[in-house]
Amino acid sequence: MIRGVAKQIAIYDANQAKVQAEILDLNHGLQFVPMAQIEGADDVAVCNDAAVVVITAGAKQKPGQTRMELASANVAICRKLLPELLRVAPDAVYLLVTNPVDVMTYASLKLSGLPTQRVFGSGTVLDSSRFRFLIAQRLNVAVQNVHAYIAGEHGDSEIPLWSSATVANIPLHEWAVAHHGKLTVRDRTEIFQNVKNAAYQIIQGKGATNYAIGLATAKILEAIIHNENRVLPVSSLLSDYRGISDVCLSVPCIVNRAGVETALPVPMNNNEEAGLKNSADTIRAALKSLGF
Ligand SMILES: NC(=O)c1ccc[n+]([C@@H]2O[C@H](COP(=O)([O-])OP(=O)(O)OC[C@H]3O[C@@H](n4cnc5c(N)ncnc54)[C@H](O)[C@@H]3O)[C@@H](O)[C@H]2O)c1
Repeated sequence: MIRGVAKQIAIYDANQAKVQAEILDLNHGLQFVPMAQIEGADDVAVCNDAAVVVITAGAKQKPGQTRMELASANVAICRKLLPELLRVAPDAVYLLVTNPVDVMTYASLKLSGLPTQRVFGSGTVLDSSRFRFLIAQRLNVAVQNVHAYIAGEHGDSEIPLWSSATVANIPLHEWAVAHHGKLTVRDRTEIFQNVKNAAYQIIQGKGATNYAIGLATAKILEAIIHNENRVLPVSSLLSDYRGISDVCLSVPCIVNRAGVETALPVPMNNNEEAGLKNSADTIRAALKSLGF
């Protein structure tokens, strides 16, 4: 709404009192942002003919809880919710945000029967921006000048792609600029631990993460609605990606109006590739335990 990404925004939530309150609060801010129509209800019909559906419904992590521990409750919600959404928005692109997002994306794809392109998850878009922020802080450069991805699960088995990380086309392992630091092995370990544990830290302090995921989701929506062909590390169904198939996880992909396209063959060293395969196994094991 603030960025004027869509002219029409509808919120469906099972909690009627909450959705009505959210709509009032959002509409009271309309005067200060690009004009749009904002509505909401506890009836799924409010999503009629949506071009894009963002699914955020479901249980969230309690302090100390992993994302994977939400899988069975949130897949159950998805089983009920998806048929209702498909009835009112059969042509939409479906973007999953609910955690564990890779499991939810795969489950939604299978439960909906929609083409692979039209169902994907926010994946490690948020983790990659956390990664870039910490690198930028350490090197004293703008976040927007750091190019680096977190790949794999949006969760504990995710992996940092250090070997392809750059600032100004300079590989990070070669970076040594006066007054702008250098990354030691210890720095790298610390940065990645902070990325991986960021959500735990935020949930401990304020109960939920919301600003950065909201901004990340708005960026993904822009890529879809404005048909940008933007490269984003979203979670999508992989088919023989470095030998990985039949699982949803994040690698840089092209996102446009049709949804998610080509998973890009980003360079990886042997360790990174092994980490990605391990992450795929972790997600697959969770899916298997849920009957997929
Ligand atoms: N992918 C990411 O990077 C990322 C980041 C932050 C949060 N999340 C996930 O997003 C989800 C939501 O988090 P939150 O903080 O907004 O939680 P929240 O509890 O504030 O909101 C969840 C909402 O879902 C609604 N809901 C539950 N079941 C429903 C159903 N069957 N139909 C319609 N609405 C239903 C609830 O009424 C509630 O309003 C969680 O799973 C959380 O882990 C993902």
